[in-house]
Amino acid sequence: MKLFLDSSNTEVVHDAVATGLIDGVTTNPSLMMKEGKDPRDVILQICNMFGWTASVSAEVVGETAEEMLNMADDYIDIHPSVTIKLPLTPEGLKACKELSEDGISTNVTLCFSVSQAILAAKAGATYVSPFVGRLNDNSVSGVELIRAISDVYRRHDVNTEILAASIRDVHQVGRCFAVGANICTIPPTVFNKMYNHVLTDKGLEQFNSDWATLQDKLS
Ligand code: G3P
Repeated sequence: MKLFLDSSNTEVVHDAVATGLIDGVTTNPSLMMKEGKDPRDVILQICNMFGWTASVSAEVVGETAEEMLNMADDYIDIHPSVTIKLPLTPEGLKACKELSEDGISTNVTLCFSVSQAILAAKAGATYVSPFVGRLNDNSVSGVELIRAISDVYRRHDVNTEILAASIRDVHQVGRCFAVGANICTIPPTVFNKMYNHVLTDKGLEQFNSDWATLQDKLS
């Protein structure tokens, strides 16, 4: 069970990685655009935050497999932690197959159906990213898609890991893991909220106050 952070903000990623609870990071062109920095620098900085070979997804863009592979070459040279993220299209899967055969870590993104997840597995993807929140936005259960992919992958001994993406809230994290996601990639706001429970706050307040009372009695 792994938790990835879905962010290109190096300060925010740094703080989350420092908790020791984050196993990897995913980025995408929209997240990169938000930061407005050179994506290669962002990827390198994030990779260097881990003291081991983590998985840091850098997404390629292009019309053809060749264009995607050229861009992938640039990213691969940056750091051994780089995972190449590719779109679930015929050209994206062609590029994925080639990279997978060369032993490069790959993440096939924009997955919205079981049949697409089957193709990603056939292309040798290390990870497939079903978009939970965006499916929910379209009145289809994202969690049920994770369950369905997990059932098929388990039944057929598929090695591709299910990386639940487009996660919008804490509840979805628990549900995705419960139905078979190997990894959830989550925005920093959702990660921070995972700690929270009103009963934890209430219980802690009571423990602290009782401890202080005891100290007073003992002094
Ligand atoms: O990185 C892909 C994914 O997590 C995007 O999420 O919230 O833009 O649908 P969202």
